[in-house]
Amino acid sequence: MVGLDIGTKTIKIVELDRDGSSFSLSASGIVGFSGNSVEKIIDDKEMASIAQIIKKLHAETGASSRDVVFSIPEQAAFTRTITFPLLTDAEIASAVKWEIEQYIPIPAAEAISQHIILERNEKSSPPSVLVLLVAAPRVLVEKYTKLVQLSGLNPIAVETELIAITRCLAPVDKTSLLIDLGANSTDIAIAKNSLLCFSRSIPLGGEAFTRAVSQGLGVNVTQAEEYKKTYGLTSSQLEGKVKGALDPVLRLVVDEVKKAISFYQSEQKGEVPTAIEISGGTSGMPQIITSLTELLGIEVSVANPFARVKMDPETAKKLAPYAPLYAIATGLAMREQ
Ligand SMILES: Nc1ncnc2c1ncn2[C@@H]1O[C@H](COP(=O)(O)OP(=O)(O)OP(=O)(O)O)[C@@H](O)[C@H]1O
Ligand SMILES: [Mg+2]
Repeated sequence: MVGLDIGTKTIKIVELDRDGSSFSLSASGIVGFSGNSVEKIIDDKEMASIAQIIKKLHAETGASSRDVVFSIPEQAAFTRTITFPLLTDAEIASAVKWEIEQYIPIPAAEAISQHIILERNEKSSPPSVLVLLVAAPRVLVEKYTKLVQLSGLNPIAVETELIAITRCLAPVDKTSLLIDLGANSTDIAIAKNSLLCFSRSIPLGGEAFTRAVSQGLGVNVTQAEEYKKTYGLTSSQLEGKVKGALDPVLRLVVDEVKKAISFYQSEQKGEVPTAIEISGGTSGMPQIITSLTELLGIEVSVANPFARVKMDPETAKKLAPYAPLYAIATGLAMREQ
């Protein structure tokens, strides 16, 4: 299966072969592009030009399949965790169907939705079932579907980014926090025993970091991007000016992560996550690991989406620097039919 992650700055493709419960990499590729995010495109020509980029990338990776699972941006989706009384699966399905408008801010007829049963707590009082509901505007899903088809590919399924990331990265035996630091947004997931329990997306990512450096140091965006990637949060460089400009943005991210944890604790009686894994392009910022670990007081590491994926040593070496960018695409490719 091919996983396709269309970000606002880069597009990623991963093709995996499944053998029972293990995977091997059969193709991968990434390409940067500039333009509007797909949500905002209204022009057919612009859609066609992105489709062309996807088509070319797919061909260059040498992927053998045209069947793809693609993602829609977390920001465009509505994710809610709902507690029901101890109902059967069929009763829950029907309750979600009929009561969906209580949980999402758009009319039911305009939404595509899916629910996952997270936990049956027969011993809690009162006994309850915890359900994750994910919904997205139908027009948006249709737009992405059309884009995939225009690219000469065959859309098989669609997921939100954090569902894909959770499948790829969340450990089975604990509560973990996953953060995808992209260009346009930062997506935060809390997963318990491999299941997504809480998600949040903030419209703040690599671009905001670059803008902060540009404004703080009075340099153009290209120079600011360079400074961000070279010096990042290192305090010893340029008299700490780059770090000084980046810090307030990082704090906004940190505040949202803290809010997510306390919300999860109070609403779902969840435990504080014991580990944090970060992915996305911005996870490559120098010193981000030490800064986040210090500010959050939880051990942070850079995600390796290929931890469960077999590949030859040469490919592994080549891919290593880009691995964190592939978390969503890999999770999508891991989806069972
Ligand atoms: N070494 C680095 N240090 C800091 N930032 C980096 C580094 N490498 C890439 N980035 C940033 O990562 C971002 C691109 O990451 P990514 O490809 O994950 O974004 P995207 O998926 O296109 O965006 P989104 O998911 O928000 O739509 C850019 O903002 C880029 O500046
Ligand atoms: Mg992304």
